[in-house]
Amino acid sequence: MISSANRLINRPILATIHTDAFRHNLSRIRELAPESKIWSVVKAKAYGHNLEAALKGLESTDGFALLDIADAQSLRDSGWGGRILLLEGLFSHDELELAIQLKCDLVVHSQKQVEWLESYQNHSGHPINVFLKLNSGMNRLGFRPDQYRTAYHRLHSAGYRLHHMTHFANADQVERSPSVGQQLECFDKVIEGLDAPTSLANSAAILWHRNALGDWVRPGIMLYGVSPTGVHADIVRSELQAVMQLRSEIIDIQDLKRGDHVGYGGRYQAPEDMRIGVVACGYADGYPRHAEDGTPVWIDAGNGQDEGVICPVVGQVSMDMLTIDLREAPNARIGSIVELWGGEVPVDDVAQMSGTIGYELICALAPRVPVVIK
Ligand SMILES: Cc1ncc(COP(=O)(O)O)c(C=O)c1O
Repeated sequence: MISSANRLINRPILATIHTDAFRHNLSRIRELAPESKIWSVVKAKAYGHNLEAALKGLESTDGFALLDIADAQSLRDSGWGGRILLLEGLFSHDELELAIQLKCDLVVHSQKQVEWLESYQNHSGHPINVFLKLNSGMNRLGFRPDQYRTAYHRLHSAGYRLHHMTHFANADQVERSPSVGQQLECFDKVIEGLDAPTSLANSAAILWHRNALGDWVRPGIMLYGVSPTGVHADIVRSELQAVMQLRSEIIDIQDLKRGDHVGYGGRYQAPEDMRIGVVACGYADGYPRHAEDGTPVWIDAGNGQDEGVICPVVGQVSMDMLTIDLREAPNARIGSIVELWGGEVPVDDVAQMSGTIGYELICALAPRVPVVIK
């Protein structure tokens, strides 16, 4: 049973955030990028892990990078006195005063943002750090190479403390265009002679492009022990650990006869007499509705040793429940603990069986799932 101390509601689903895994992953990043400072990317409520948990596990980071100024405010309210980077800068001029009050560093990626900063009189008594974003080929945000230096000089003249920044489109792929090499070449050329610290690498670049790190790296997904490629073997090779564990319990068992169907649409048909476990977790909890038959879950053996077996999902995932084939788990019973993802079942594997990536699953953990920070 999930301990009653951890139970916020009677339904047995629970997400546990392991802050020791955060610490471990951060120290792995320090080993991989020893010369760089680290922006721990905690947008989307720390990729679904909860900001408070991130602050607890990542307190030795050099800074937090996030999207929403309300999250910057939460970090300050929780006592974080270090650097905070607003990854997309200001969404409106109205945010400027608060961003300065909160001592946020700002990404600047558009002409509008340059104008807002130029017209601002900084009476805060502290310099404002700007990470000026170059569009070096991804074509999402940032100044084009022919616009970049003008933006740089305008902000420099207005008294801002500048940094150069770009973002890679394909750091997890060697052969795609634009490649890291092409983007790096563009970056180096555009910033030539403009002496300022740089920020380049996301997780994939930290793992596979050690020549493209910069003074500040910006790891996101690897902090959470999830793969930028979607391939779990990359996480094993990189010695990273899963931070989020999603667990529930078997709440009912059905004895099927050969030929019986399971769930909506009767997608799965029993090939023989067999037991089916009904687990309290569905798509309204963030489990992917598109999970195919065969998506792994782990079932605790119930011997107190954290031993268990992998069993496959069978049948369509519904809003509040999913069903699993218990043929490999003869001892499974009502109340057996099931791990949907975590240290036993990589979220990358669940994502792969569901036509998505681990990023989406962890970010989409539903608010109704109770979270425990360990
Ligand atoms: C600008 C920027 N930097 C860094 C990251 C972190 O990327 P990842 O989670 O792949 O490490 C992101 C995430 O999308 C981002 O938008």
